[in-house]
Amino acid sequence: MRKIGVLVSGRGSNLQAIMDRIADGFLPLEIAVVISDKEDAFALERAGMAGIKNVVIPRKGCASKEEFEAKITAELQAAGCELVVLAGFMRILSADFVNTWEHKIINIHPAILPSFPGLHGQKQALDYGVKVAGCTVHFVDAGTDSGPIILQKVVPVMDDDTEDSLSERILVQEHIAMPEALKLWAENKLEIVGRKVRIKA
Ligand code: GAR
Repeated sequence: MRKIGVLVSGRGSNLQAIMDRIADGFLPLEIAVVISDKEDAFALERAGMAGIKNVVIPRKGCASKEEFEAKITAELQAAGCELVVLAGFMRILSADFVNTWEHKIINIHPAILPSFPGLHGQKQALDYGVKVAGCTVHFVDAGTDSGPIILQKVVPVMDDDTEDSLSERILVQEHIAMPEALKLWAENKLEIVGRKVRIKA
């Protein structure tokens, strides 16, 4: 079974979706470690309840970003991870980290990229007045939410949507999109060609 590490910062509903799809046999993967930069992240409890190794690496406990990321890499390597999954990890990773894990980091973002990168993608979409919104699963490059796109899911935006109601509708699709992308990766069906991801049959 190929091993992945999951980086989180909060609630961990995407982590839960991955764990659930491993448990029901859809995903041929093992989560070897869950790493959080926040010690009060509920995601840690979710991992603990499932018997998955979970580690807190607070940024403030490190003298530099370099040291913070070196600790993350050491944990991931010690656990034998082949892939790093960002599931609500709310920090920008350095170019050094991205190079260390080139083409081996997958992120989920709550917007149809390249629109609305960065923080609060759902609110940005709502404020802009778009009629459709959604989520994107992509490989991470050195930019912010700019790497090759694996797949996207679309939802309608309603006239009476709030940030919460739109976020909830998108989240349902996130929980479908991330396991789908990870399954394609696990089955070696993703090929990165330039900035495009081709899905092999
Ligand atoms: C998700 O909506 C995810 O797309 C978003 O944070 C939320 C985490 O929820 N990520 C980003 O905005 C990254 N830029 P979760 O902790 O319940 O999975």
